Amino acid sequence: MLLKTMTDVVILPPMAERFYTHTELAMIRPATPDDISALIAVAEASVPFEPNEIEELLQLLTQHFDSNGNSRDFWLTDDDNGLVSVAYVAPERMTEGTWNLYLIAVHPDRQRQGRGKMLLEHVEQMLANRGERVLLVETSGTEDFEYVRTFYRKSGYTEEARIREFYAAGVDKIVYLKSLHKPDA
Ligand SMILES: CC(C)(COP(=O)(O)OP(=O)(O)OC[C@H]1O[C@@H](n2cnc3c(N)ncnc32)[C@H](O)[C@@H]1OP(=O)(O)O)[C@@H](O)C(=O)NCCC(=O)NCCS
Repeated sequence: MLLKTMTDVVILPPMAERFYTHTELAMIRPATPDDISALIAVAEASVPFEPNEIEELLQLLTQHFDSNGNSRDFWLTDDDNGLVSVAYVAPERMTEGTWNLYLIAVHPDRQRQGRGKMLLEHVEQMLANRGERVLLVETSGTEDFEYVRTFYRKSGYTEEARIREFYAAGVDKIVYLKSLHKPDA
């Protein structure tokens, strides 16, 4: 801001110190084909995926970018001088406006900086703006995933269903739900 005195001399205010939080420097954007290997690297570093699951992820990404714009899925990332997170959300088949967040992961070096929350809110806002109704997330019921369940609960998700023994013997699946609302609704 420039301040003018009565004599029209331009006075510059003292240089303001600028403080940035980590998340102010982040840029959430749609992923591009050039991001594929970096996205896989973030997923591998953040989630204890089996090699076949990583292969499946790679296939999904490749199909998405090979679809010539016909894919309804969204792949988003947070680019902060390199990719630090990934989100993959797709519509549930044979529903109207119900979506599933199949993957959200923040690189372990960048967790607990509000990035996961910000990415999740971005996904919700994007879907709400399109008039979509519901976002589901599914996660494991085991003790080591308690922090993930806390993350979803703190983000406004409510536990909607538990499918016992879903992932493996003794490993339940918990389905969380959040209703999406258009900004003007
Ligand atoms: C779950 C995950 C995406 C959260 O991302 P994040 O950027 O670390 O989370 P945020 O910093 O935005 O946290 C938001 C809130 O969630 C909760 N939370 C997140 N991580 C937590 C942890 N490790 N322990 C306890 N609470 C946690 C906190 O309440 C936090 O708010 P606070 O920091 O103000 O207390 C991230 O931990 C991750 O990538 N985990 C591995 C992949 C995974 O399991 N993904 C989910 C299943 S696909």
